[in-house]
Amino acid sequence: MVTPFLPDDEKIPALREALPSTAAGIYLNTGSCGPLPRESAHAMAEAEAWELRTGRADPAYYDEGLERKGEARGAVAAVLGTDPSHIALTHATTDGMNVATWAADWRPGDRAVTTSLEHPGTLAPLWAVRERLGVDLSIADVGLGGDRAAILEAMDQAITPATRLVAISHVSFATGARLPVREIADLAHSRGALVAVDGAQAVGAVPVDVAALGADFYAAPGQKWLLGPEGMGALYCADSVLDRPRVAFSGYGAFEKLDPDGSGRLWPDARRFENSTFHLPSVIGFARSTAWMSMYPGLPWVYDRIATLAAATVDMLADIPGVEVLTPRENMAGLVVFRIAGWNSPEALRELSQRTYCIARVIPQLDAIRISVGFFSTGGELRRFRDGVALVASHTPATIPHKPKIEIIQGGAE
Ligand SMILES: Cc1ncc(COP(=O)(O)O)c(C=O)c1O
Repeated sequence: MVTPFLPDDEKIPALREALPSTAAGIYLNTGSCGPLPRESAHAMAEAEAWELRTGRADPAYYDEGLERKGEARGAVAAVLGTDPSHIALTHATTDGMNVATWAADWRPGDRAVTTSLEHPGTLAPLWAVRERLGVDLSIADVGLGGDRAAILEAMDQAITPATRLVAISHVSFATGARLPVREIADLAHSRGALVAVDGAQAVGAVPVDVAALGADFYAAPGQKWLLGPEGMGALYCADSVLDRPRVAFSGYGAFEKLDPDGSGRLWPDARRFENSTFHLPSVIGFARSTAWMSMYPGLPWVYDRIATLAAATVDMLADIPGVEVLTPRENMAGLVVFRIAGWNSPEALRELSQRTYCIARVIPQLDAIRISVGFFSTGGELRRFRDGVALVASHTPATIPHKPKIEIIQGGAE
């Protein structure tokens, strides 16, 4: 059992033991998918086994589902600093951004504003409203996201009185920059626009207080920094959007009452934005992982450790000749993005993976490597990774020493 109060030298091995995939390599890709806690995997397996034994058709099963969904909303609400009545369950960040984007009262000639650092999870729903509703899309160039004054100036120019929605990331998936959400939200609100925030790279990595950020909608995934299963997410919906009768997608979970004659009443809370049914074991896994983060490592400790380790990683990498760190150190979360001179990033990452067993990804549009520094990462792992980067950076693809492969040749013999 891990408790938040163990000293770090006991706590970190205990947490890694509770997150078995941290032993699969140097786990540096929570930004894609975090390591699942053993406890969540057990809870999901138990739920699957229960479904197998008893079926899924008993009315009690339905009531159980409602309770579990309530637990999941409560667990996420605690992380986002809000009340469960403000949380709608979704299937992904992208799902939440779609719900938020389509909730605006669009009219032809309206404008949607975003930044040049967005993931398709934010950009694709905007593309869809542009295609379908004739909405203009304005993409503010915010560089690498490190110059807050320049970002605010670009957003100030982009957000006009015709702007209906400003959709931005809290933390950019591409450079790891933490954007000035509060200031952008203030600008947007002063011009009558709604604000939808993509929190995929922030929730579980940095403290998030949705009300203080000024977001009308804030979308979160289960599978990244909250270490949950895929196929689950959550959408925070502020009071400012809870009185909206217009929801673009809907389902029976959204209604307090819906009669066959078509009359009905949406839930007064964020459930009005839920539009589909859920896989109960995944709901349980999502609630368990999210609550596990709060109860075992403890979120304040998680945030402190990620901030300290990620900044130290930037410093270690920036010290290596030939390495260019793109992540703005003063405005970052857990992502670190860098390039190695003389290498294209897929090739460099292949070398690093073979030499250090790291698990990371490439950001193709920047030709850069992105690592995610987790609270479970160790100093030893990050130094080994740094040494790997130093080795690759001191060579070119033509001069790097060959790393002997182990090859198993399948013979014909039985
Ligand atoms: C900023 C950002 N938004 C959205 C996504 C997509 O997340 P999801 O799969 O939860 O929709 C990602 C991750 O891949 C991301 O980094």
